[in-house]
Parts: sequence; structure tokens; C-alpha cells
Amino acid sequence: MSKIVLITGASSGLGKATSEFLSSKGYKVYGTSRDPSKYTSPSSYKLLKLDVNDVASIDFTINFILKKEKRIDLLINNAGVGITGPGEETDVSEMKKNFNTNFFGAVLLMQKVLPTMRDNKKGLIINISSIAGYMGLPYRGCYSASKGALQLFTESIRMEVKKFGVDILTLAPGAFSTNIADRRYHSPIKNGPYKDDYKKSLEEMNKHVSDGSNPLEIAEFIYNLSNNESKYRVHYKIGAWLQKFSLILKKILPDTVYEKILMSFYKI
Ligand SMILES: NC(=O)c1ccc[n+]([C@@H]2O[C@H](COP(=O)([O-])OP(=O)(O)OC[C@H]3O[C@@H](n4cnc5c(N)ncnc54)[C@H](OP(=O)(O)O)[C@@H]3O)[C@@H](O)[C@H]2O)c1
Repeated sequence: MSKIVLITGASSGLGKATSEFLSSKGYKVYGTSRDPSKYTSPSSYKLLKLDVNDVASIDFTINFILKKEKRIDLLINNAGVGITGPGEETDVSEMKKNFNTNFFGAVLLMQKVLPTMRDNKKGLIINISSIAGYMGLPYRGCYSASKGALQLFTESIRMEVKKFGVDILTLAPGAFSTNIADRRYHSPIKNGPYKDDYKKSLEEMNKHVSDGSNPLEIAEFIYNLSNNESKYRVHYKIGAWLQKFSLILKKILPDTVYEKILMSFYKI
């Protein structure tokens, strides 16, 4: 029986690559976009309308899938958006929008899919977080916080659902070459105290994404994870060696030393 997959944010980047790859392996993939009409219909998977901020659209799409398939084996909470800006200047309403998508959106999807996974006594949920969620990055405080929140929420809910046969984990990518930098909310560079540092940090961040790894690596990783029916760890990381090594340094170095390294890396 082919696995039934729901993946949010399948119109672009990591979600698109993963949807194509899982379909090529025989999975039945239901991907989503806020506006599928903007894209050429994918040949190998369905692209359905869903906005993670709109409960009615989540209900509609999940009911549609369950009516046809009676189950969802794998939920990949991939939809997400970036946000940059100095913490002092960034509009809090933009920060709330970011949390609504990156954190509450994933929470809502879990809440809506868990009843059917519990009924089937089986299911896997992969929450796409970020290596940025393990540390507060300069000029990306809100993004780091939204992904860090998703990591902690995952740790909690995972323990609650274990006895129902459902596994929940996070997969934290480093920098991957996608459209995320173009679609980010960028707080405007103001003529103020943060102008030069914020500008330099933005240039560094954009370079990391454009020089980032191939999204196919994530697709293959998810495929292998989804076939590993044994014990799952709670957190997985994927990305360039240096990005993963930075997490080891964070664990072993004193905070002040780690902070100095981060600041020199971002040239601030
Ligand atoms: N690329 C990286 O370096 C990187 C690193 C770490 C983590 N991540 C995470 O990986 C995930 C995928 O990002 P990506 O790099 O592939 O970015 P992307 O190319 O910009 O794709 C983002 C996807 O999210 C969807 N989306 C955005 N807002 C949505 C909403 N409100 N409701 C439903 N779907 C929404 C978009 O679909 P529509 O616009 O069609 O609705 C799009 O398919 C995100 O969670 C991101 O934070 C990426």
C-alpha cells in the first residue's frame, strides 16, 4: 500500500522537491499551496489549496484527503516564511504573522491530523524547523524564535502521542537553495543605529541561501526517515558540515565565546 502524504508548502523549494521525490518512490502525495492556480499543475502529485493561517482551508483539504484515502500516514509541516530585521525596529505585527505561519500553522495541522492518526494507531509527523531555531541569530530573532518554539512544542506533544503509535519529530535544515530569501519579510533598512550591521547581515544571509545545499538532499532524507519504522529521535539536522558543527560548538563552548564567533561570522 502506498503511503499517503500531506505536505504543506509544496509549490516551491524543499516542499516541491520532497513532493516530487516521494511521488517518484510511489508515495501518494497531496501537496498544498495558498494559491495553486499560480503554478503549473505538478504532474506527479496533487497541489491543493491550503493556507496554514486559515482553519477552514485546513479542514476542507484534510477532509478531502480523508474522504478519498481514509488515512494520512505522513504529515510534513513544511510551509514557512522568513523574517529579518533589527529586534528593536521590526514591526511586532509582522512578527506575529511569522509566528502564525511558522509555529501556529504547524500546530494547527498537527491538531487536525492527529485524530485520524490516533484512530489508525500509526502515523509520522515531520516538522520542518531550522538550524536557526537552535540559536538566536542576529537580525533573525523572530525567525529563530518561531523555529525554536516549534522544536520545543514538538518535544512536548511527541511524548503525549507516543502511546497512540504516532511519532513526531523535527528536521532542521541548514541553508538550502530555495526561494525563501525572495519571499521573506524584510524589515526596511532605516537610516538609524542598525543600518550598517543589518545591511551586512542581510547580504551574508542571502549569500548562504543562494550558495545553499540542494533541496533533493532533504527529499532523500525524509524518504529514508519515513521508511525507518523503528525508533525515531526527536530532532534531526541536515545541512553543510559547518552548519551542523556550529550546533556542537554551541553545546560545548561558553556562551560568550559562541556569541563572539557568531558576531564575527555575520561581520557585526
Ligand atoms: N531554504 C532554507 O535554507 C531553509 C533553512 C531552514 C529551514 N527552512 C524551512 O523550510 C521550509 C520550506 O522553505 P523553503 O526554503 O522551501 O521556502 P520557499 O521556497 O519560500 O517555500 C515556502 C513554501 O511555504 C508555503 N507557504 C508560505 N506561507 C504559507 C501559508 N501561510 N500557508 C501555506 N503555505 C505557505 C509556500 O507556498 P505558497 O506561497 O504557494 O502558498 C511555499 O510552498 C520552511 O518552513 C523554512 O522555514 C528553509
